[in-house]
Amino acid sequence: MKYDIEFLENYWMPFTANRDFKADPRMIVRGEGVYMYTPEDEAILDGSSGLFCCAAGHSRPEIAEAVYAQLQQAAYVPPFQLSQPLSFELARRVAKLTPDGLDHIFFVNSGSESVDTAMKMAYAYHYARGEGQRQRFVSRERAYHGVNLAGISLSGMVKNRQAFGPGVPGVAHMRHTWLPENRFVRGQPDEGIELAEDLQRIAMNVGPDTIAACFVEPVAGSTGVLVPPKGYLERLREICDEHGILLVFDEVICGFGRLGTAFAADAFSVTPDIMTMAKAITNAAQPMGAVAVSDRVHDTIMEASGPGLVEFFHGYTYSGHPAACAAGLAMMDIIETDRLFERASELSPYFLDQVFALSDIPLITDIRGYGLFAGFDIKPAGGPGVRGTDFQKRMFKNGLHIKMTGDAGLIAPPLVSERHHIDKICDILRRTLAELE
Ligand SMILES: Cc1ncc(COP(=O)(O)O)c(C=O)c1O
Repeated sequence: MKYDIEFLENYWMPFTANRDFKADPRMIVRGEGVYMYTPEDEAILDGSSGLFCCAAGHSRPEIAEAVYAQLQQAAYVPPFQLSQPLSFELARRVAKLTPDGLDHIFFVNSGSESVDTAMKMAYAYHYARGEGQRQRFVSRERAYHGVNLAGISLSGMVKNRQAFGPGVPGVAHMRHTWLPENRFVRGQPDEGIELAEDLQRIAMNVGPDTIAACFVEPVAGSTGVLVPPKGYLERLREICDEHGILLVFDEVICGFGRLGTAFAADAFSVTPDIMTMAKAITNAAQPMGAVAVSDRVHDTIMEASGPGLVEFFHGYTYSGHPAACAAGLAMMDIIETDRLFERASELSPYFLDQVFALSDIPLITDIRGYGLFAGFDIKPAGGPGVRGTDFQKRMFKNGLHIKMTGDAGLIAPPLVSERHHIDKICDILRRTLAELE
């Protein structure tokens, strides 16, 4: 189907080369299982679960029905000083999945909002303890913590920051964990634990009692799937404990089974104080994010204000929106009935075998992977990201969606994928790379 320029002109697309897209649109009008479909009904195999969010496959009818039923019953209930039962029910279900002790769930509408909310919780926690001087944050180069102004201050991907001012003051960045000697290492690399000492150095440089929290994605996702070196997250936990710094895991991508466990905290046996999440919480059928908070952080903030008073001056018009909660509850059922986490864990060795088998392709300069999540780098040509963008378009023409960030590809198939889907992803990747040679 042809879309004329008048039809296309008003919509300003996010994170898209708008002019280029509008010259040759790639539209999707339907989704089912692990496939998306163009207006011409061509099937596009989804190798990135949309944007790492459709964990249970596209357009699950159970979720659609739950949302429809809820919209008919109570499409909206104000979430401030009033509520509806689904928020409580979903919080209970999510808390059953989060690590022990992270049982307090605050709802937001996106991953970006979950990051800003977690930052405010860190400020509020220290303020309540009489340590309001802790106003600095530590994060990491190449991090992606969403696109709100506070989140981009933590982030470390240059294009997401460059045009948008200095951001929240007092953020220091640790080095990222990509090391040349770890190229083509599957799972957690042996080398690189010493990179965690950056947190110690920053603490010694600015004073540990000025740092509120350290934010990391356990596996850095959007930048290209950087799996943490062995012992690295454990060491961050130790340093945080030593200095009273909160450890925050941004689990927006890693959470809800991507690594073959409920959360990355389980996969790496390191429990943070706060966890941000979004995306797969509703299988992306409704916008929603959440923050899971430890008893200590929650109780400290709660007890700091008198009875009858608002304890945390934060929330969104759509926090715990009934339709999003209905979608989330349906997703929690699917997680159980479809054994989503177990399936991801069972499929992971085969997935990683097939993806790492691509390492014989000369254009691929590195592959990394854990669970059902893998990243690969292709040799740049014509400037950073130019070849990656061309590659993404070619894959689409060949029937595959893989999210590219610059020249890095991010493979994250829906957790309901079968082996033959993995074969097809790798086959199309190989064929499309051959077009570039
Ligand atoms: C780790 C991480 N944090 C935060 C976000 C932001 O989420 P959203 O796009 O829902 O705002 C993302 C999005 O990809 C993410 O990967």
